[in-house]
Amino acid sequence: MQRSTTHMKGSSADNKIMFKTTKRALLLLAGCTIFGGLGSAQDPAAYSGWMKAVNPSVRAANAAIAAKDNAAVATEANKLAVVFDQVLGYWKSKGADDAIKLATTARDAAKTLAAATDSDAQTASLKTLQGTCGQCHSAHRESVGPGQFNIK
Ligand code: HEC
Repeated sequence: MQRSTTHMKGSSADNKIMFKTTKRALLLLAGCTIFGGLGSAQDPAAYSGWMKAVNPSVRAANAAIAAKDNAAVATEANKLAVVFDQVLGYWKSKGADDAIKLATTARDAAKTLAAATDSDAQTASLKTLQGTCGQCHSAHRESVGPGQFNIK
């Protein structure tokens, strides 16, 4: 009985050390993720992630407009505004004026959509937002295989 208690104590101390080490590793990992996120203004992999988030949000916003669910419209629109703000940052870092303009239009349309409460205004700003996709893609998106794109 005594032995097993001692043993338990020992192992709980070990666990503590393990926990500390794990915690440190996690902090390190979180740090990398945060810095990775901040440093991603010019990262093509991050760019692809932003773009992949666009269609699901556009679809969800459309459905929410149809359902007259303004809170959900605003939620999706705010997500789109964040995405296109990141896209804008990318193109600013590249100094590509046409893309900067399109990304600004997209971001601002998303912000207008987030604030709009009647379905006509919502539909109009979503349309403005969707008007930017094709223009930017034909100028700056290069197809390199099925479903694979590069930035040009
Ligand atoms: C300012 C430029 C710009 C705008 C605006 C823009 N895109 Fe893109 N998009 C790109 C570029 C560049 C790529 C290619 C690089 C990539 O795929 O990461 C791309 C790729 C994509 C991809 C493929 C992602 C992947 O890597 O699989 C999707 C999907 C996409 N865009 C959707 C949209 C939609 C929908 C809109 C409009 C609501 C939009 N984009 C607006 C520049 C833009």
